[in-house]
Amino acid sequence: MPASAATPPFTIEAMPSQDLPPERLSSAQAREAMTWLVSAIAHHDICYHQQDQPELSDADYDALRQRLQALEALYPELTQADTPSLSVGAVPATGFAKVKHRKPMLSLGNAFGAEDVHDFITGIRRFLKELAESDLALTMVAEPKIDGLSVSLRYENRQFVQGATRGDGQEGEDITRNLMTLPDIPRQLPKDAPDIVEVRGEVFMRKRDFAALNEQQQEAGKAVFANPRNAAAGSLRQLDPSITASRPLTLFLYSPGEISQTVAETHWDFLQTLAAWGFPTNPLSKHCQDLEDLLAYYQDIERQRADLAYDIDGIVYKVNRYDFQDRLGFVSRAPRWAIAHKFPAEKAETTLKNITIQVGRTGALTPVANLEPVTVGGVVVSRATLHNEDEIQRKDIREGDRVLLQRAGDVIPQIVSVLTEHRPAESQPFAFPHICPECGSQALRPEGDAIRRCSGGLICPAQAVERLKHFVSRHAFDIEGLGEKHITAFFKDGILQDPADLFTWAERDQAKDNLTPLSAREGWGKQSVKNLFNAIDARRSLSLDRFIYALGIRQIGQSTAKLLARHYGDFQTLRLAMDHASQAENRDDSPDYQDLIAIDQVGPAMAQDLLDFFSEAHNKTVLDKLQRHLTLLPLEEIKDEGSPVAGKIVVFTGTFETLSRSEAKAKAESLGAKVSGSVSKKTDYVIIGADAGSKAKKAAELGVQTLTEQDWLSFIAQ
Ligand code: IVH
Repeated sequence: MPASAATPPFTIEAMPSQDLPPERLSSAQAREAMTWLVSAIAHHDICYHQQDQPELSDADYDALRQRLQALEALYPELTQADTPSLSVGAVPATGFAKVKHRKPMLSLGNAFGAEDVHDFITGIRRFLKELAESDLALTMVAEPKIDGLSVSLRYENRQFVQGATRGDGQEGEDITRNLMTLPDIPRQLPKDAPDIVEVRGEVFMRKRDFAALNEQQQEAGKAVFANPRNAAAGSLRQLDPSITASRPLTLFLYSPGEISQTVAETHWDFLQTLAAWGFPTNPLSKHCQDLEDLLAYYQDIERQRADLAYDIDGIVYKVNRYDFQDRLGFVSRAPRWAIAHKFPAEKAETTLKNITIQVGRTGALTPVANLEPVTVGGVVVSRATLHNEDEIQRKDIREGDRVLLQRAGDVIPQIVSVLTEHRPAESQPFAFPHICPECGSQALRPEGDAIRRCSGGLICPAQAVERLKHFVSRHAFDIEGLGEKHITAFFKDGILQDPADLFTWAERDQAKDNLTPLSAREGWGKQSVKNLFNAIDARRSLSLDRFIYALGIRQIGQSTAKLLARHYGDFQTLRLAMDHASQAENRDDSPDYQDLIAIDQVGPAMAQDLLDFFSEAHNKTVLDKLQRHLTLLPLEEIKDEGSPVAGKIVVFTGTFETLSRSEAKAKAESLGAKVSGSVSKKTDYVIIGADAGSKAKKAAELGVQTLTEQDWLSFIAQ
């Protein structure tokens, strides 16, 4: 049954009061439009996510959401409890089996100019110490960055057996049947290919094929796609492979996944191998000798960009030697050995209607520009970030201005500049509030800091709500059934004030004197209440890294949370170390502080945020409460079990001949060792380079085993 059979038409044309700008609607009209929009968006979400039969283009869908948001901003009191504006991200697609990637599918860091590329290369040379001190060649492969979808293809005994989407990089969706319909994917590999071959690449639709498809869609009265990337994504995510088969999709392969035998020592050779095995590879890829070569290639491809048969959004540079790639490894989800050099973004002109201030989880006041909707880079944009008050002042951005807007790929839209010639005569510079718009507390800006923050801490409802939302979010406690809109409502009603309240909720709800049990609320049946409390119960034991991440400490993302969990092992040790460091007389020299900043990727600024968080009185109370309700499990180790240094505490001191400090640290951590900044009785090994000072002495005093750089290298090579 088509999704629309039992519902009124939810087309753009059917939207009530569509001819009027939001501010011209009466409140009765606004109410009618908002009710309609909430239902319409819910309807289109079902068509798209559950039935794979979108009835609207992405641009029209965005327009509906933006219209609703605009109305909610004007009439907050009419905002419906079930508004989709409060839920983030897409509903996960159902219908495809999950596939765990044996090697993670990484993303890339970005470079926006020649200087960033220069820094990228200098960083690599510094990391690979022998390159820092010589003019040894560091050649790179440059490839166009295709604007499509990455996929992984798996061959076992030279037969194509599985194809998967990237998903979150660790786990994707099984789209084998759909990929089988792509004529350019070989079903078989030649006899000389290894038994297991996994290769990665980008599926895309050529510009010409995209135009033809849209024409066909239009003639058939079906929704058109906003751009070739969306068309490729929509075609590949079809539950019915015969639809995929009817769409003109192709691909280029560019990366190895799991391969059972070494087939190439360099990326350039690997690309030739791929081609020899019958995979399509991009003929424009080039082996470049130095920075100059890379930048010339970038310019050359940028000149050809408009005439290419497919959309590209930049150039990817990759270190050619695989042994270098292995040593460089990756930070978080992006390799140190590759970067995407983006092309300048598409631009568009529009009017800035007004500036509103959002208060985030850490109290940061972020100005947001509300814009007259405009299409840029293939999507309708009605809001843009203004970053902070200096940015507004520097660009002298005012309400009512005509502005130039840009959107680069997946980056949030930005205002590039103001078209001052169109500025209204009565316009006034924007006065950034010094008072938090949510709680009325002073909003302060410490010297040297770009961000003004609300000083209200947890008395600020916006911060408290954002922290709660973060606490239950997917990569944190991941509590199913507790969406952002629920959190806001439960907070308002005093049911959830801080994260620890989650774990006393069921008991409070079932108490005899509770006059407003959850099951009496609209939309909450007995079963959904039971499911929710079960979901919360299931999280009473949680891995330490997720817990640290859930706390929402400024600057502490998932990867740092993992490092902290691994380093400290359990929460009490982490808390004690933070307390000791904060209370130490000479903080910066204290062993606990030194130990903290010795963790790869933890610098003084991050250390400060951690210490601030753990010494704040309210946080201490909440942490005490949480610790009573929770069992924290050690981080699931990804370490190499066979490694001789797994679980050992090591300290590096002095200057090394072949290893940079960063490479030494990164390598030790990847083998499961904990790198510490200070020597204590608990230290297992101190690795001593040239000019080592007090730490070598201390090791001798404490009888800790010391190793030279050479000893260490042979030790870990065992
Ligand atoms: S290499 C670790 N090469 O860009 C290497 N990626 O922003 C990971 N992409 O997820 C990818 N063209 O979907 C690589 N020639 C190319 C690419 C490319 C497009 C996409 C890919 C990746 C994303 C990262």
